[in-house]
Amino acid sequence: MKSLQALLDLAESAAREAGALLRERAGEPRTDVQTKSTPTDMVSEVDRESEALVISRILAVRPDDAILGEEGGERAGSSGVRWIIDPLDGTTNYLYGLQAYAVSIGCEVDGEVVAGAVFDAAHGQMYRAARGRGAYRNGARLRVSEKAELATALLGTGFAYERAFRMEQVALLGRIIGSVRDVRRGGSACLDLCAVAAGQLDGYYETVAPWDMAAGALIVREAGGETGFIEAVRGRPAAILAASRGLYPLLEELLLGAAR
Ligand code: IPD
Ligand code: CA
Ligand code: CA
Repeated sequence: MKSLQALLDLAESAAREAGALLRERAGEPRTDVQTKSTPTDMVSEVDRESEALVISRILAVRPDDAILGEEGGERAGSSGVRWIIDPLDGTTNYLYGLQAYAVSIGCEVDGEVVAGAVFDAAHGQMYRAARGRGAYRNGARLRVSEKAELATALLGTGFAYERAFRMEQVALLGRIIGSVRDVRRGGSACLDLCAVAAGQLDGYYETVAPWDMAAGALIVREAGGETGFIEAVRGRPAAILAASRGLYPLLEELLLGAAR
């Protein structure tokens, strides 16, 4: 059975439970921090415990589903449903005692994300969306901003862990920042996307992984926004671009014009 509501409820309950674990363990002295792709890309035991918890909750109910989890939880399935999980998005914030971190769970059916939940555990805010049914934060409907000009647009972005790439990203930012109101670097891609959905950012762009954006991009679209991909830094993987419908084409043009 692939009832959309059942998939959304499962994403939400697993995200809530994993978020409670993160919150409970926040601020503990950490002796278990290791690095992954680069010396600045950290991972802790909590990232792995959170992922194991989410996967066990999903498979307990839906044992035939596929899984893609950031911390290695990859598994094939036979049901046509795949769960895309970031068990702790904003690890750097989390390990520094900053509060912008979340659990992100997207649910794909036949290759399309149809349900997603992002739980901002530090603030007790549950963002969720199902295809065609709108986006919500703790029960309140979300709408993207009505911004349709660049000069007063507040953007979010972020930087890769790889040194050369992040320097290229900053160079790009240097070429566009004079054309917009300002830029925020929150440190959690899924929360940046939720901020676009809630009208707290006018737009967001960044090259991120599937688990960073699966749930958040659906939440933006269901809040009336547009998402797509652009080659913001030439020769690098495409960036997701998310914004209100009026701002999207303007931002796309700005970023492509500044790409080198
Ligand atoms: C990171 C965060 C950050 C973004 C990075 C991501 P992680 O995820 O979402 O905001 O700039 O690109 O990798 O490592 O904290 O799960
Ligand atoms: Ca992430
Ligand atoms: Ca993560």
